[in-house]
Amino acid sequence: MQVFDFAIAVEWEYDYDYLRLIERFAHQQGISTYVIWPENLAATLEQLQRKEIGFAFFYDRASDNSPDFLVLNQFLQQQKTPMLDTWAALQWAADKALIHRKFIEVGIEVPYTYIIPPAKKVSRISFIEPELYRLGTPFVVKPANTHGGGIGVVRGARTLADVQEARLTFPDNKYLLQKKIIPREQDGRRFWFRGFYTCGMVQIAWWNDLNCVFNTFTERDLDAYRLHVLYRIMRQAARVCRLNFFSTEIAMDRTGKFIAIDYVNEMCDMRLKSRHYDGVPDQVVENIVRQIVAHARRRIGKAG
Ligand SMILES: Nc1ncnc2c1ncn2[C@@H]1O[C@H](COP(=O)(O)OP(=O)(O)O)[C@@H](O)[C@H]1O
Ligand SMILES: [Mg+2]
Repeated sequence: MQVFDFAIAVEWEYDYDYLRLIERFAHQQGISTYVIWPENLAATLEQLQRKEIGFAFFYDRASDNSPDFLVLNQFLQQQKTPMLDTWAALQWAADKALIHRKFIEVGIEVPYTYIIPPAKKVSRISFIEPELYRLGTPFVVKPANTHGGGIGVVRGARTLADVQEARLTFPDNKYLLQKKIIPREQDGRRFWFRGFYTCGMVQIAWWNDLNCVFNTFTERDLDAYRLHVLYRIMRQAARVCRLNFFSTEIAMDRTGKFIAIDYVNEMCDMRLKSRHYDGVPDQVVENIVRQIVAHARRRIGKAG
């Protein structure tokens, strides 16, 4: 049997640069790689089942979006192959309603929120409008269990009718009705951030919630605006969600409070800023890749 050190499943063509970086860093460390795309998924599974090949470590970027890959994930799970994050851990952390409660428990500030049952279970919610108005208008309506990208999120809801309509997009999902957070604006910046947690390392980037553009976060920003708390929030979030790799959106509102908005993005978009207007700063991506490869090396017991 030929054993590959680091296997990665991908299904999105825009993962290509990220994948190449992972392979480059891995190879520099003497770690062999194996990539599973939709095209070689079936053949790979067969080879694994026939024990012609094996994987020492698995990073799954595919099965959250392409259920075909779940068979591979389950097979490797049965083999007890170490994974960056297990399917079960990812599913658990992807529940915004659950993480909302957990964040409150550990003291992470979150927007004022009502959580309502799925439309399939309770077709008409019994809200009276004054309760709703406590959220302020407009307010945000978002599904609890989608896979990010803002799909199904309504940012300008005003009435109960808007809620009823929005929750029909994903009738199996609980929904969060949320106060809309307006970030502080100063020195030509919106105080909205994306924190990346990767195997013990926290990185922060400016992220504009209106146009999705990232900007590099510097030591000067950290001191000038007293943003150290962002790191603490990310570490708390990591203890809650127990994932090795995720990102969180955090806004500073006009009163200076730091509020987590998108709690746990468990499958981060890793397109590079040098190649896409809304990509992640290259240095941040490189650091993430280094962390993941180093983590894999520890897990598979290869001395560095
Ligand atoms: N409470 C909120 N206040 C202000 N904007 C919000 C709020 N919730 C979501 N948004 C906006 O909607 C976008 C998508 O919502 P988000 O919670 O990030 O869902 P997803 O997991 O699909 O990315 C966010 O990036 C943000 O711009
Ligand atoms: Mg988001």
